[in-house]
Amino acid sequence: MRKIVFWGAAIAALGFIVPAAAQPIVIKFSHVVAEKTPKGQAALKFKEEAEKLLPGKVKVEVYPSSQLFGDGKEMEALALGDVQFIAPSLSKFDKFTKQLQVFDLPFLFDNIEAVDRFQQGPVGQKLLTSMQSKGFLGLAYWHNGMKQLSAKKPLLVPSDAKGLKFRVQASDVLAAQFQQLGANPQKLAFSEVYQALQLGTVDGQENTWSNCYSQKYQEVQSDFTHTDHGVIDYMVVTNASWWKKLPPDVQAGLKKAMDVATKLNNEVAGKLNADAKKKIAESGSAKIHELTPAQRAEWKKAMEPVWAKFEGGIGKDIVDAAKKSNGASKS
Ligand code: LMR
Repeated sequence: MRKIVFWGAAIAALGFIVPAAAQPIVIKFSHVVAEKTPKGQAALKFKEEAEKLLPGKVKVEVYPSSQLFGDGKEMEALALGDVQFIAPSLSKFDKFTKQLQVFDLPFLFDNIEAVDRFQQGPVGQKLLTSMQSKGFLGLAYWHNGMKQLSAKKPLLVPSDAKGLKFRVQASDVLAAQFQQLGANPQKLAFSEVYQALQLGTVDGQENTWSNCYSQKYQEVQSDFTHTDHGVIDYMVVTNASWWKKLPPDVQAGLKKAMDVATKLNNEVAGKLNADAKKKIAESGSAKIHELTPAQRAEWKKAMEPVWAKFEGGIGKDIVDAAKKSNGASKS
Protein backbone atom coordinates (compact mmCIF):
# COMPACT_ATOMS: atom_id res chain seq x y z
CA MET A 1 0.00 0.00 0.00
CA ARG A 2 2.78 2.35 1.01
CA LYS A 3 4.57 1.56 -2.28
CA ILE A 4 1.55 2.54 -4.34
CA VAL A 5 1.21 5.82 -2.48
CA PHE A 6 4.94 6.40 -2.98
CA TRP A 7 4.83 5.78 -6.74
CA GLY A 8 1.67 7.84 -7.09
CA ALA A 9 3.36 10.75 -5.36
CA ALA A 10 6.53 10.27 -7.40
CA ILE A 11 4.66 10.29 -10.74
CA ALA A 12 2.76 13.39 -9.72
CA ALA A 13 5.98 15.07 -8.64
CA LEU A 14 7.68 14.31 -11.94
CA GLY A 15 4.74 15.86 -13.74
CA PHE A 16 3.61 12.77 -15.67
CA ILE A 17 0.22 13.38 -17.16
CA VAL A 18 -2.11 10.78 -18.56
CA PRO A 19 -2.65 11.85 -22.22
CA ALA A 20 -6.08 13.40 -22.67
CA ALA A 21 -8.40 11.63 -25.09
CA ALA A 22 -8.43 13.43 -28.48
CA GLN A 23 -11.31 15.87 -28.67
CA PRO A 24 -13.88 15.28 -31.45
CA ILE A 25 -13.96 17.74 -34.31
CA VAL A 26 -17.06 19.88 -33.76
CA ILE A 27 -19.00 20.38 -37.00
CA LYS A 28 -21.73 23.00 -37.00
CA PHE A 29 -24.45 22.55 -39.65
CA SER A 30 -26.72 25.56 -39.90
CA HIS A 31 -29.86 25.89 -42.01
CA VAL A 32 -32.98 28.02 -42.19
CA VAL A 33 -35.91 25.60 -42.50
CA ALA A 34 -37.95 23.57 -40.00
CA GLU A 35 -36.87 20.06 -38.98
CA LYS A 36 -39.91 18.43 -40.59
CA THR A 37 -38.79 19.38 -44.10
CA PRO A 38 -36.56 17.39 -46.49
CA LYS A 39 -33.48 19.48 -45.60
CA GLY A 40 -34.30 19.40 -41.88
CA GLN A 41 -34.54 15.60 -41.93
CA ALA A 42 -31.44 15.14 -44.06
CA ALA A 43 -29.28 17.33 -41.83
CA LEU A 44 -30.27 15.18 -38.82
CA LYS A 45 -29.52 12.01 -40.81
CA PHE A 46 -26.08 13.41 -41.69
CA LYS A 47 -25.37 13.96 -37.97
CA GLU A 48 -26.51 10.44 -37.07
CA GLU A 49 -24.42 8.76 -39.80
CA ALA A 50 -21.32 10.89 -39.31
CA GLU A 51 -21.25 10.21 -35.56
CA LYS A 52 -21.89 6.49 -36.19
CA LEU A 53 -19.13 6.19 -38.81
CA LEU A 54 -16.62 8.34 -36.92
CA PRO A 55 -17.26 7.56 -33.24
CA GLY A 56 -15.47 9.99 -30.95
CA LYS A 57 -13.89 11.73 -33.92
CA VAL A 58 -16.65 14.13 -34.89
CA LYS A 59 -19.54 15.79 -33.13
CA VAL A 60 -22.15 17.29 -35.46
CA GLU A 61 -24.37 20.07 -34.15
CA VAL A 62 -27.40 20.85 -36.33
CA TYR A 63 -29.04 24.27 -35.99
CA PRO A 64 -32.38 24.50 -37.89
CA SER A 65 -34.78 27.41 -38.46
CA SER A 66 -32.15 30.19 -38.73
CA GLN A 67 -31.36 29.61 -35.00
CA LEU A 68 -27.64 30.11 -35.50
CA PHE A 69 -27.41 32.01 -38.80
CA GLY A 70 -30.16 33.11 -41.16
CA ASP A 71 -30.01 34.02 -44.84
CA GLY A 72 -27.44 36.69 -45.49
CA LYS A 73 -25.26 35.67 -42.55
CA GLU A 74 -24.74 31.94 -43.10
CA MET A 75 -22.39 32.27 -46.09
CA GLU A 76 -20.25 34.81 -44.31
CA ALA A 77 -20.17 32.50 -41.27
CA LEU A 78 -19.02 29.61 -43.49
CA ALA A 79 -16.26 31.74 -44.98
CA LEU A 80 -15.12 32.79 -41.49
CA GLY A 81 -15.18 29.21 -40.18
CA ASP A 82 -17.98 29.90 -37.66
CA VAL A 83 -19.95 27.07 -39.23
CA GLN A 84 -18.72 24.10 -41.30
CA PHE A 85 -21.79 23.05 -43.30
CA ILE A 86 -24.71 24.99 -44.73
CA ALA A 87 -27.23 24.03 -47.40
CA PRO A 88 -28.68 27.19 -48.94
CA SER A 89 -31.17 27.02 -51.73
CA LEU A 90 -29.47 27.22 -55.13
CA SER A 91 -31.06 30.65 -55.62
CA LYS A 92 -28.96 32.16 -52.86
CA PHE A 93 -25.53 31.75 -54.47
CA ASP A 94 -26.17 34.61 -56.87
CA LYS A 95 -23.33 36.77 -55.62
CA PHE A 96 -20.78 33.93 -55.81
CA THR A 97 -21.50 32.50 -59.25
CA LYS A 98 -23.87 33.30 -62.09
CA GLN A 99 -23.77 29.69 -63.28
CA LEU A 100 -26.16 28.43 -60.61
CA GLN A 101 -28.79 30.91 -61.82
CA VAL A 102 -29.74 28.17 -64.27
CA PHE A 103 -31.84 26.61 -61.49
CA ASP A 104 -33.97 29.77 -61.21
CA LEU A 105 -35.00 30.07 -64.86
CA PRO A 106 -38.79 29.69 -64.73
CA PHE A 107 -40.33 26.63 -66.41
CA LEU A 108 -36.90 25.32 -67.44
CA PHE A 109 -37.25 21.97 -65.69
CA ASP A 110 -40.39 19.92 -66.33
CA ASN A 111 -40.19 18.19 -62.95
CA ILE A 112 -37.83 17.19 -60.13
CA GLU A 113 -36.71 14.08 -62.06
CA ALA A 114 -35.33 16.37 -64.78
CA VAL A 115 -33.62 18.50 -62.12
CA ASP A 116 -32.06 15.33 -60.72
CA ARG A 117 -30.79 14.17 -64.14
CA PHE A 118 -29.17 17.56 -64.67
CA GLN A 119 -27.57 17.66 -61.20
CA GLN A 120 -26.17 14.14 -61.50
CA GLY A 121 -24.92 14.67 -65.06
CA PRO A 122 -21.44 16.02 -65.91
CA VAL A 123 -22.50 19.67 -66.07
CA GLY A 124 -24.38 19.56 -62.76
CA GLN A 125 -21.49 17.78 -61.03
CA LYS A 126 -19.04 20.38 -62.29
CA LEU A 127 -21.17 23.14 -60.78
CA LEU A 128 -20.42 21.70 -57.32
CA THR A 129 -16.92 23.13 -57.65
CA SER A 130 -17.97 26.41 -59.31
CA MET A 131 -17.40 28.41 -56.11
CA GLN A 132 -14.06 26.96 -55.05
CA SER A 133 -12.23 30.17 -55.88
CA LYS A 134 -14.55 31.87 -53.36
CA GLY A 135 -13.68 29.25 -50.73
CA PHE A 136 -16.85 27.14 -50.98
CA LEU A 137 -16.93 23.48 -51.95
CA GLY A 138 -20.23 21.80 -52.88
CA LEU A 139 -20.55 18.24 -51.58
CA ALA A 140 -24.07 17.31 -52.68
CA TYR A 141 -27.37 18.49 -54.08
CA TRP A 142 -30.44 17.97 -51.93
CA HIS A 143 -33.93 18.20 -53.39
CA ASN A 144 -36.78 20.11 -51.93
CA GLY A 145 -39.16 20.34 -54.87
CA MET A 146 -41.09 22.44 -57.32
CA LYS A 147 -42.29 25.94 -56.39
CA GLN A 148 -45.89 27.10 -56.11
CA LEU A 149 -47.39 30.59 -55.93
CA SER A 150 -49.58 32.04 -53.21
CA ALA A 151 -51.33 35.32 -52.47
CA LYS A 152 -54.39 36.74 -50.77
CA LYS A 153 -56.41 36.24 -53.94
CA PRO A 154 -56.56 33.52 -56.61
CA LEU A 155 -53.68 33.64 -59.10
CA LEU A 156 -55.04 31.82 -62.14
CA VAL A 157 -53.57 33.79 -65.00
CA PRO A 158 -50.44 35.99 -65.11
CA SER A 159 -52.41 39.24 -65.07
CA ASP A 160 -53.72 38.27 -61.59
CA ALA A 161 -50.20 38.93 -60.26
CA LYS A 162 -49.93 42.41 -61.74
CA GLY A 163 -49.18 45.14 -59.20
CA LEU A 164 -48.77 42.69 -56.29
CA LYS A 165 -45.67 42.57 -54.09
CA PHE A 166 -44.00 39.15 -53.97
CA ARG A 167 -41.29 38.00 -51.62
CA VAL A 168 -38.33 36.49 -53.46
CA GLN A 169 -35.10 34.90 -52.32
CA ALA A 170 -31.88 36.85 -52.91
CA SER A 171 -31.84 36.08 -56.64
CA ASP A 172 -31.84 38.51 -59.55
CA VAL A 173 -33.52 35.93 -61.80
CA LEU A 174 -36.43 35.54 -59.40
CA ALA A 175 -36.76 39.31 -59.07
CA ALA A 176 -36.84 39.60 -62.89
CA GLN A 177 -39.41 36.83 -63.11
CA PHE A 178 -41.92 38.85 -61.06
CA GLN A 179 -41.05 42.10 -62.85
CA GLN A 180 -41.86 40.28 -66.05
CA LEU A 181 -45.39 39.80 -64.70
CA GLY A 182 -45.74 43.48 -63.82
CA ALA A 183 -45.43 42.58 -60.12
CA ASN A 184 -43.01 43.97 -57.52
CA PRO A 185 -40.40 41.60 -56.11
CA GLN A 186 -39.02 42.14 -52.59
CA LYS A 187 -35.89 40.24 -51.54
CA LEU A 188 -36.44 39.01 -48.00
CA ALA A 189 -34.78 36.48 -45.71
CA PHE A 190 -36.76 33.29 -45.24
CA SER A 191 -37.21 33.91 -41.51
CA GLU A 192 -39.00 37.20 -42.24
CA VAL A 193 -41.57 35.94 -44.74
CA TYR A 194 -44.43 34.91 -42.45
CA GLN A 195 -44.51 38.27 -40.74
CA ALA A 196 -44.20 40.17 -44.01
CA LEU A 197 -47.21 38.26 -45.37
CA GLN A 198 -49.13 38.81 -42.16
CA LEU A 199 -48.44 42.53 -42.04
CA GLY A 200 -49.03 42.95 -45.76
CA THR A 201 -45.49 44.18 -46.44
CA VAL A 202 -45.74 41.67 -49.27
CA ASP A 203 -48.88 40.23 -50.85
CA GLY A 204 -47.61 36.89 -52.05
CA GLN A 205 -44.70 34.49 -52.33
CA GLU A 206 -43.37 31.41 -54.10
CA ASN A 207 -42.11 28.28 -52.37
CA THR A 208 -42.44 24.51 -52.14
CA TRP A 209 -45.43 22.90 -50.40
CA SER A 210 -43.23 21.69 -47.52
CA ASN A 211 -41.81 25.16 -46.86
CA CYS A 212 -45.25 26.78 -47.15
CA TYR A 213 -46.87 24.35 -44.74
CA SER A 214 -44.02 24.22 -42.19
CA GLN A 215 -43.96 28.04 -42.11
CA LYS A 216 -47.79 28.14 -41.77
CA TYR A 217 -48.26 30.38 -44.80
CA GLN A 218 -51.79 28.99 -45.10
CA GLU A 219 -52.65 31.15 -42.06
CA VAL A 220 -51.72 34.33 -43.93
CA GLN A 221 -52.38 33.43 -47.57
CA SER A 222 -55.87 32.55 -48.77
CA ASP A 223 -54.95 31.09 -52.16
CA PHE A 224 -52.24 28.77 -53.44
CA THR A 225 -51.74 27.90 -57.09
CA HIS A 226 -50.16 24.62 -58.14
CA THR A 227 -47.83 25.98 -60.80
CA ASP A 228 -44.59 23.93 -60.49
CA HIS A 229 -43.03 26.95 -62.24
CA GLY A 230 -39.55 26.54 -60.77
CA VAL A 231 -37.45 24.60 -58.35
CA ILE A 232 -36.11 24.99 -54.81
CA ASP A 233 -33.19 22.65 -54.29
CA TYR A 234 -30.04 22.95 -52.20
CA MET A 235 -26.30 22.65 -52.44
CA VAL A 236 -24.62 21.39 -49.29
CA VAL A 237 -21.46 23.46 -49.10
CA THR A 238 -18.47 23.41 -46.83
CA ASN A 239 -15.47 25.67 -46.33
CA ALA A 240 -12.97 24.37 -48.93
CA SER A 241 -9.80 25.01 -46.92
CA TRP A 242 -11.27 23.49 -43.71
CA TRP A 243 -12.32 20.43 -45.74
CA LYS A 244 -8.88 19.98 -47.28
CA LYS A 245 -7.21 20.00 -43.87
CA LEU A 246 -9.38 17.19 -42.45
CA PRO A 247 -7.64 13.84 -41.78
CA PRO A 248 -8.35 11.50 -44.76
CA ASP A 249 -10.39 9.03 -42.67
CA VAL A 250 -12.62 11.84 -41.35
CA GLN A 251 -13.12 13.23 -44.85
CA ALA A 252 -14.03 9.77 -46.16
CA GLY A 253 -16.46 9.16 -43.28
CA LEU A 254 -18.16 12.53 -43.78
CA LYS A 255 -18.50 11.83 -47.51
CA LYS A 256 -20.17 8.51 -46.74
CA ALA A 257 -22.49 10.14 -44.21
CA MET A 258 -23.34 12.78 -46.81
CA ASP A 259 -24.24 10.06 -49.35
CA VAL A 260 -26.62 8.42 -46.86
CA ALA A 261 -28.21 11.78 -45.96
CA THR A 262 -28.58 12.71 -49.63
CA LYS A 263 -30.28 9.42 -50.41
CA LEU A 264 -32.72 9.88 -47.53
CA ASN A 265 -33.38 13.50 -48.50
CA ASN A 266 -34.19 12.60 -52.06
CA GLU A 267 -36.38 9.68 -51.04
CA VAL A 268 -38.52 11.70 -48.60
CA ALA A 269 -38.70 15.06 -50.41
CA GLY A 270 -41.52 14.08 -52.78
CA LYS A 271 -43.64 12.57 -50.04
CA LEU A 272 -43.10 15.46 -47.60
CA ASN A 273 -44.21 17.93 -50.27
CA ALA A 274 -47.25 15.85 -51.25
CA ASP A 275 -48.25 15.52 -47.57
CA ALA A 276 -47.76 19.25 -47.00
CA LYS A 277 -49.98 20.09 -49.97
CA LYS A 278 -52.69 17.82 -48.55
CA LYS A 279 -52.41 19.41 -45.11
CA ILE A 280 -52.73 22.92 -46.55
CA ALA A 281 -55.88 21.79 -48.37
CA GLU A 282 -57.23 20.15 -45.20
CA SER A 283 -56.45 23.20 -43.04
CA GLY A 284 -59.59 24.81 -44.40
CA SER A 285 -57.94 28.22 -44.21
CA ALA A 286 -56.64 28.36 -47.79
CA LYS A 287 -57.71 27.15 -51.21
CA ILE A 288 -55.46 25.32 -53.65
CA HIS A 289 -56.07 26.07 -57.32
CA GLU A 290 -55.09 23.58 -60.01
CA LEU A 291 -54.34 25.17 -63.39
CA THR A 292 -55.76 23.98 -66.67
CA PRO A 293 -53.09 23.20 -69.30
CA ALA A 294 -54.06 26.42 -71.10
CA GLN A 295 -53.64 28.52 -67.93
CA ARG A 296 -50.26 26.95 -67.18
CA ALA A 297 -49.14 27.67 -70.74
CA GLU A 298 -50.02 31.33 -70.14
CA TRP A 299 -47.79 31.53 -67.04
CA LYS A 300 -45.00 29.91 -68.96
CA LYS A 301 -45.33 32.32 -71.84
CA ALA A 302 -45.38 35.28 -69.45
CA MET A 303 -42.30 34.22 -67.46
CA GLU A 304 -40.06 32.66 -70.09
CA PRO A 305 -38.76 35.93 -71.60
CA VAL A 306 -36.60 36.15 -68.47
CA TRP A 307 -34.33 33.45 -69.91
CA ALA A 308 -32.92 35.75 -72.58
CA LYS A 309 -31.68 38.20 -69.93
CA PHE A 310 -29.69 35.63 -67.99
CA GLU A 311 -28.64 32.91 -70.46
CA GLY A 312 -25.47 34.77 -71.44
CA GLY A 313 -24.26 35.14 -67.85
CA ILE A 314 -25.07 31.54 -66.97
CA GLY A 315 -23.50 30.05 -70.10
CA LYS A 316 -25.31 28.54 -73.08
CA ASP A 317 -23.73 25.11 -72.53
CA ILE A 318 -25.20 24.98 -69.01
CA VAL A 319 -28.67 26.08 -70.09
CA ASP A 320 -28.63 23.59 -73.00
CA ALA A 321 -27.64 20.73 -70.71
CA ALA A 322 -30.47 21.67 -68.34
CA LYS A 323 -32.98 21.73 -71.22
CA LYS A 324 -31.80 18.32 -72.37
CA SER A 325 -32.47 16.84 -68.93
CA ASN A 326 -36.20 17.10 -69.68
CA GLY A 327 -35.87 14.50 -72.40
CA ALA A 328 -36.64 14.86 -76.07
CA SER A 329 -39.36 17.49 -75.56
CA LYS A 330 -37.02 20.46 -74.97
CA SER A 331 -33.67 19.37 -76.43
C1 LMR B 1 -36.40 30.32 -49.09
O1 LMR B 1 -35.70 31.24 -48.68
O2 LMR B 1 -37.55 30.47 -49.48
C2 LMR B 1 -35.85 28.92 -49.14
O3 LMR B 1 -34.64 28.96 -49.78
C3 LMR B 1 -35.71 28.36 -47.77
C4 LMR B 1 -35.07 27.01 -47.85
O4 LMR B 1 -33.93 26.88 -47.43
O5 LMR B 1 -35.75 26.09 -48.32
